[in-house]
Amino acid sequence: MKIIVTGGAGFIGSNFVYYMLDKHPDYRIVCIDCLTYAGNMSTLAKAMENPRFVFYKTNICDRAGIFAIFEKEHPDVVVNFAAESHVDRSIETPEVFLQTNILGTQVLMDACRKYGIARFHQVSTDEVYGDLPLDRPDLFFTERTPICTSSPYSASKASADLLVHAYYRTYGLPVSISRCSNNYGPYQFPEKLIPLMIANALGEKPLPVYGKGENVRDWLYVEDHCNAIDLILHGGCEGEVYNIGGHNEMRNIDIVKLICAKLDKSEELITYVTDRKGHDLRYAIDPTKIHRELGWLPETRFADGIEKTIRWYLDHTDWWKTIVSGEYRDYYERMYANR
Ligand code: NAD
Ligand code: TYD
Repeated sequence: MKIIVTGGAGFIGSNFVYYMLDKHPDYRIVCIDCLTYAGNMSTLAKAMENPRFVFYKTNICDRAGIFAIFEKEHPDVVVNFAAESHVDRSIETPEVFLQTNILGTQVLMDACRKYGIARFHQVSTDEVYGDLPLDRPDLFFTERTPICTSSPYSASKASADLLVHAYYRTYGLPVSISRCSNNYGPYQFPEKLIPLMIANALGEKPLPVYGKGENVRDWLYVEDHCNAIDLILHGGCEGEVYNIGGHNEMRNIDIVKLICAKLDKSEELITYVTDRKGHDLRYAIDPTKIHRELGWLPETRFADGIEKTIRWYLDHTDWWKTIVSGEYRDYYERMYANR
């Protein structure tokens, strides 16, 4: 089996590359990534030594480039992780989110139609469902929850989901979609909550908590997400959506305090800053369908996952320090200077 993995130099895509190379010793992975600020070749250094792995530095919006790769590689399956993924950036500059997340997905599906494919899998997000109120812990997102987006990021991901479904209905393209909750683990870019707080705490820098820190996210260890996608590729039904989440809801402020405690840093580093515009209150996934139909259950408890993640950032300071010292810093200044 040959799988095209787009966005494989990013957080979840790279974890998926390593997961699949390890789990399926006969599979070949063709990675396509244009290396935006979020893509990092040092993340793929080990994969580059593997003869079953090949990398193309190509933008998924580049139709000729993508078609040429399909022509050469003849993939069986495409898993599309490539995206602009940070909500705060989408509030600042929505356009590139629409280009990559919607039009890039279209280019990939057009290539799938032309060259033939056993499955096109779209990696989507629970953010397409909007948010849930904080005072209704009985409510969860199911696959039937209406799409109702809050940010340019989630709107672009929801648009792509609709387009994927349209290609299934109109052209019979064999597609599937997964909508996962917040991931954490190795190789996550230090602009997202958990790695940002770890990096800042280690540097004794302020820990910027939006609003009162009461917003709730449903955290899943990245390997459990990779395992769920693997199961969907092999046993999931065409045209179906699968929610992925492990019933692990936590308030932001509790995560930040936990990181302070684990790193033995003072909570005085916590700085409450202006809230995110349109900030979703609570995400919570009902994963009944993927559990019932594919037997998926998360394997990593949050207590273990956060321990492993913090240990990984402590052991890989070179990885994130080079990021923090680069273009990322300019963005950081822009985002937090007047907050
Ligand atoms: P990320 O930002 O860490 O990585 C994205 C990768 O895509 C980068 O390597 C980047 O270089 C690449 N990329 C961006 N634009 C591209 C383009 N036009 N052409 C080719 N490559 C391009 O993102 P992530 O957190 O790993 O998320 C991966 C996918 O999972 C996204 O589709 C995201 O919407 C989805 N998702 C993420 C989470 C989460 O918690 N991080 C949760 C649910 C779903
Ligand atoms: P983030 O990691 O950006 O993921 P998402 O917005 O896709 O859920 O943010 C997770 C939560 O943490 C979200 O409620 C916003 C909050 N947050 C902060 O409070 N401070 C920060 O510096 C960041 C990046 C996020």
